[in-house]
Order: sequence, then C-alpha cells, then structure tokens
Amino acid sequence: MKPVRIAIFASGTGSNAIALIKKAQSLNEGQIEICFVLSDKAEAPVLEKARAAGVRTYLVEKTSDRQSHEKSVLALLREYRVDWIFLAGYMRLLSASFIQQFRLWHEQREQIVNIHPSLLPAYPGVDSIARAFKEGVSQSGVTLHLVDEGMDTGRILRQEVLRRTDDISLTEWTRQFHQVEHRLYSQFLENIALGKENTAYFKENP
Ligand code: GAR
Repeated sequence: MKPVRIAIFASGTGSNAIALIKKAQSLNEGQIEICFVLSDKAEAPVLEKARAAGVRTYLVEKTSDRQSHEKSVLALLREYRVDWIFLAGYMRLLSASFIQQFRLWHEQREQIVNIHPSLLPAYPGVDSIARAFKEGVSQSGVTLHLVDEGMDTGRILRQEVLRRTDDISLTEWTRQFHQVEHRLYSQFLENIALGKENTAYFKENP
C-alpha cells in the first residue's frame, strides 16, 4: 500500500497536531506521510512545534480575499498530492468550492476531518468547553466529524462523552478534553494507516 498523505491545518497551540505527528511517526514506516502543517496565523505556536518535530510547515496568512487565500492553500494540497486534511484547531471555515475541489481530487469522497470539543450539534464554534462549563452542564464531550462548509456541521464519525464532576475546575476539565481529543484523533489516523477507513488517493482531474 502506498503511504496516505496527510496535511494538518491548525491556528493555535497545536496539541492535536503534535499528537497526530507522534502517532504517524510511531506507525510502521511508510503507512502515513505528514506532508505539512499549515497555519493561517504567523504567531501560532503550532508552527514551531511542528518544525521541532521534523515536519514541514507553511504559513498562508489570512487575507481579506478568501478566494485567493484558498487558492494558495489548494495549490499546496495539489503540489503534495494530499489525500486527507486533518483540521486541528483551524479557526477558519472552508468554502463550498474549496471542499468541492478537494472531493474532485478524491473520487468525490469526503476526506477532510475535524475534531471539536463538544457533543455537536451542541456548542459549535469557539470556546466550546468554557461555554458548556459556565452553563453548568453535567456532561459534554468530543466529536470527530467530516467537514462541510458550515461551522462544525459535517457528518459525525465518532463522539465520546465527558462527564463533569461537581468539583472539577475548568482547567482540569479542559485537560481531560484534550486527552480524549488526542486519543480519538490519533486512533482515526491509525485506522486510515491500517486501511480501516477507505482512502481515495489524490488523482488529478482528467
Ligand atoms: C481543540 O480543543 C480543538 O478541538 C478546538 O480547538 C482546540 C485546538 O487545540 N477546535 C475547535 O474548537 C474547532 N471548532 P490545539 O491547538 O491544542 O490542538
């Protein structure tokens, strides 16, 4: 089997990106290739962390023109013949035309995934853990889902519940979320490597 080629998009701290990189590096050689980590923010710590882990990085900064931003990103995906995109705290929406182009390269399969710290459709968007915490929910969780042009709205692949005990602090609860995210996302990457998730390899349009 040829390696499955992955791009990770991230805007922030990068703990999920690093968990994915470590998982890829722990797998048998040649199953997964992390082609690059892309960020839209120059100050994002993920860039330095990914480089330190030996992964190529690209910065494609936000521009006022979404179309030209996405054009630059698509050019990279095409250059590296990327098979799957993993969003890992990437705080930008992808347009319908971006998603359609990526599907065209992959026999119309959906191969863009995202990890989100809530039981979607509850608490989409930003600060999902803190918002749920402040509202006093008894449980929340982590969702792994396919990406469409909406905000955290694509088809759900996996969900894991995280109960909230009375005395837990927001800091501790957040730490628990990240642990679950890293495990779920790494497992999904491993499933791709093992062929348990079908992959349509990048193919240029005829
Ligand atoms: C993660 O908790 C991820 O689930 C969330 O951003 C955080 C990034 O952390 N994503 C979203 O909220 C997407 N709507 P990280 O940079 O340490 O991986």
